[in-house]
Amino acid sequence: MTISRSVSAALGLRVHAKPLTRAFPSRPVDGFVGAIGNTPLIRLEKLSRQTGCNIIAKSELQNPGGSVKDRAALGVIQNAEAQGLLKPGGTVVEGTAGNTGIGLAHVCRARGYHCVIFMPNTQSQEKIDLLRMLGAEVFPVPAVAYEDPKNYNHQARDYAETLHNAIWTDQFDNTANAEAHYHSTGPEIWEQTQGDVDAFVCATGTGGTLAGVGRALKEKSDGRTQIWLADPPGSVLHSYVTSGGKLKERSGGSITEGIGQGRITNNLGTFVKQLDGALHIPDEKSIAMLYDLLDTEGLYLGASSALNVVAAVELAQKLGPGKTIATILCDGAYRYQSRLFSKAWLRAKGLEDAIPEHLEKYAVLD
Ligand SMILES: Cc1ncc(COP(=O)(O)O)c(C=O)c1O
Repeated sequence: MTISRSVSAALGLRVHAKPLTRAFPSRPVDGFVGAIGNTPLIRLEKLSRQTGCNIIAKSELQNPGGSVKDRAALGVIQNAEAQGLLKPGGTVVEGTAGNTGIGLAHVCRARGYHCVIFMPNTQSQEKIDLLRMLGAEVFPVPAVAYEDPKNYNHQARDYAETLHNAIWTDQFDNTANAEAHYHSTGPEIWEQTQGDVDAFVCATGTGGTLAGVGRALKEKSDGRTQIWLADPPGSVLHSYVTSGGKLKERSGGSITEGIGQGRITNNLGTFVKQLDGALHIPDEKSIAMLYDLLDTEGLYLGASSALNVVAAVELAQKLGPGKTIATILCDGAYRYQSRLFSKAWLRAKGLEDAIPEHLEKYAVLD
């Protein structure tokens, strides 16, 4: 059955004058590594309509390892190779909450390195299983503060020192991470918006994405593009930025994984002073947005992506109609689905009331 264009429009269906097409790189790329980057920039239609702004999101879940951290993983490995610190057959060791490890495990297989990952034992089982399936050796260790020598980052560093031809990639303080975003993600957003981007906002774990993209966009726009931090509960950065670098308040915790920070990493570094502002986003808003983006846009996203979109909408409301606000979709929900779509888990986190009634149907797991 064919439906006329006017009937389709009346039904609220999108009308395409010609078949959908998508631009692809014009030549084959080289392996896994060649497929990293050049991700689509997605305009979020309902939120753009509601705010009168262009809310656009870089779909980093479409990287071959499934997250924004593929770029950082490649960046730190290429940097170590270039400096002669990592030779064929060597070992890459990292402390990671998951996605960097997944990116590293993929790149290590593609480049013939052994991969060893230390991670806090609070992270989702899906991520631990995936790392092991990708051939990495995984050590889940107790989640203790950075100041504690048993923190997963210090354990990774110490372990690498015991091995021959091995590096600790040090994603938090190795600025090859932010450099990867400075040279790829930032310029891609600039090109995809043809320089029309009023603001960029995202949350930070290592700070690589925010500082790398932020620095690139500030430079390319001669300072016109505003760069904002989005911060979950339990992170000190929001209070640090809004108090002009004085306060470091840390209260509460968050269901989001991979973001929130207790210190100024080298990757965030002095760029923290160039930030135009910071937004604190509670979990109730992030989880409601996660379900809403699934319902209205068909996007199946992790919680940090949803938090970023909440922040983009709040920034749009602050800056007023007609602006273009960019953010990052860091990864998909696949790695967290046993939590994010479980009624029992939402209840345990006190978040069941955060899901609007018409979206409760998506919480299909008990
Ligand atoms: C799901 C997710 N979102 C966001 C981030 C933050 O990115 P960055 O480390 O570049 O600040 C991470 C980092 O691991 C992550 O895993």
